[in-house]
Amino acid sequence: MAVESAPTIRRFRQTDVNDLLALIGRTIDSCYPPHYAAEAVAFFKSYHDRQALIRDAEQGHTIVLEQDGRIVGTGTLLGDEIRRVFVDPVCQKRGLGRLIMQWLEEQAASRGIRMVVLDASIPAQAFYQELDYITSEERCLEVANGKKLRYHKMQKTLKNTVCGEHMDITVEKMTDGDWPIVATILKEGIATGHATFEDAVPTWEQFDATHLPQCRLVARSGNAILGWIVRSGVSSRSVYQGVAEVSIYVKASVRGLGVGKTLLSAAIEASERAGIWTLQSGIFPENTASLSLHERCGFRVVGYRERLGQMHGAWRDVVLMERRSKIAGI
Ligand SMILES: CC(C)(COP(=O)(O)OP(=O)(O)OC[C@H]1O[C@@H](n2cnc3c(N)ncnc32)[C@H](O)[C@@H]1OP(=O)(O)O)[C@@H](O)C(=O)NCCC(=O)NCCS
Repeated sequence: MAVESAPTIRRFRQTDVNDLLALIGRTIDSCYPPHYAAEAVAFFKSYHDRQALIRDAEQGHTIVLEQDGRIVGTGTLLGDEIRRVFVDPVCQKRGLGRLIMQWLEEQAASRGIRMVVLDASIPAQAFYQELDYITSEERCLEVANGKKLRYHKMQKTLKNTVCGEHMDITVEKMTDGDWPIVATILKEGIATGHATFEDAVPTWEQFDATHLPQCRLVARSGNAILGWIVRSGVSSRSVYQGVAEVSIYVKASVRGLGVGKTLLSAAIEASERAGIWTLQSGIFPENTASLSLHERCGFRVVGYRERLGQMHGAWRDVVLMERRSKIAGI
């Protein structure tokens, strides 16, 4: 018997589109015909087309489930709505759908959403009922040739316990004792090749000397540190005393789960309270996660700094982003 590796969940990437469309198409063809007319099956496929998939992934949070190097499932959280949950027909009835739902519910809970909603197709209704979703409404859509497509609006109130331990994030001051973990997380960031020009972790003394003592924050869950953010000054001229640069790093295993947003939002708030009016960040153009994170937190792109520095012998461009406070320095 073939031994299967444990499934892993990661965030959707643009390069997943074709595999996901194939997975969705296969699943619809396999599961829907016993319950729906051919016209309704065709409607489902066009409803979950390339454009919709990309749009929802951009506006929401789409995850893919991989097993043995293959994509075997997906799901999306868009606002308070769970969408497009599909598990490959050959992998169904093994708990993968439950895993996807648990992940999406944790995402929702971590964003403060108390009730999630979804549209359930007829074959999926029992699955969602198993997961404590209740039907709020039955709906019927007319598709081609006057054929009907029945589905159900379902909802679930999330309990705090849904929010697994690792999502229970608090932001606290960084202490000297946090340095070993902070350094490990920095090392993981350096390993991406897109976080910083530096290629080695500094000593605590070097780190301490090159960052402002104020506003050094860590995101914690229980005893674990999930990420950190620090500030550094940009100039010794007094006119720039309210301008600082941020550096943010999130532990690799919890990236894409809102830790960065929690940390950056906390740093913005603390900075504004301390009278800092402009926060800036230099980001490699390849670092899409960081560009999105800063944009979501109110930073705008100032411009593109061309061939600013060398990394392993190659010139790298840097996107300069800034956030001008509307509260501090007005
Ligand atoms: C960049 C980094 C700090 C982001 O932290 P994170 O915890 O992964 O980000 P979050 O989960 O809080 O996501 C915040 C926003 O960024 C976007 N985002 C996150 N990961 C993304 C990805 N891989 N692709 C595209 N957008 C992404 C999302 O739109 C999200 O907004 P939303 O919640 O409204 O959808 C993290 O990926 C990291 O530590 N990277 C390595 C170190 C690094 O590059 N630091 C920055 C140096 S400039």
